[in-house]
Amino acid sequence: MSQPMPASPIGVFDSGVGGLSVLLELRRELPHENFIYVADTGNAPYGERGDDFVQQRTLAIARYLQDAHHIKALVVACNTATTAAVSELRSAFPDLPVIGVEPALKPAAASSQTHRVGVMATRGTVQSARFEQLRLAFSDGTEFRPQACDGLVRAIERGVEEDPAHATAPAEIRALCARYTAAMGSFGQRTGDIDTLVLGCTHYVFIKDELRELLGPDVHIIDTGAPVARQTRRILVQRDTLADESDAAHAGQVRLYTTGRLTALQAAGQRWLQLAPEQCATLPA
Ligand code: DGL
Repeated sequence: MSQPMPASPIGVFDSGVGGLSVLLELRRELPHENFIYVADTGNAPYGERGDDFVQQRTLAIARYLQDAHHIKALVVACNTATTAAVSELRSAFPDLPVIGVEPALKPAAASSQTHRVGVMATRGTVQSARFEQLRLAFSDGTEFRPQACDGLVRAIERGVEEDPAHATAPAEIRALCARYTAAMGSFGQRTGDIDTLVLGCTHYVFIKDELRELLGPDVHIIDTGAPVARQTRRILVQRDTLADESDAAHAGQVRLYTTGRLTALQAAGQRWLQLAPEQCATLPA
């Protein structure tokens, strides 16, 4: 393998389009970097597939990004894949800097005034040993209410395909959000209320408006895109592989690949990142 250079791209992947919420923050933080994004939509949702499957897919995608694109760092823009596979990934690719995404329990515990925090994530994330460790680490004085949101990733992926203009959220998404937020308890600022909601799945960032409408303006909704982007910058600086702004090769180019339907990825890339359809291509699942 050739040595990664500052001009090499950064690999980013998710089970689908959710990781585009992280890519959005990465581009804001690192506008001169080139990115290769893989949406494994042909195999989504990961959260309902089990650890062995998610590990196998994560390693295969990392191998592809390293062999075909010579990436200098990998951002696992998926909470479920981070929980299930980040240790295996680091062992299999010891020279590749890997940045994972985990539910932001620490900042939520620090900012909650009612000391009650809701966490929406996939079943895989909520039931993992890694999540339990995280919860125990920050539960001193804070009660977390984790909620496995079965079906929500699938509904968001379907929404992208069926409603490219995103004029209205599909009724299915609104119904699932209503059911899962109600299951966590009452939201608000009074004693006993949940005043902070952690989005522990990168897909859910794209339904923040629907959640905000249900929960009202005062509930603090936290996601991890921006901190992950800042952490990626720190790692590139440490490794001396940050893109050189004066070099034309560092033009901030982006290529998106999907193992699912190309038109769905094109719609998502256009809607959320203003990317041209030609920047998208398919990969075998
Ligand atoms: N965006 C992924 C995450 O952050 C969704 C996983 C799934 O496909 O269930 O967990």
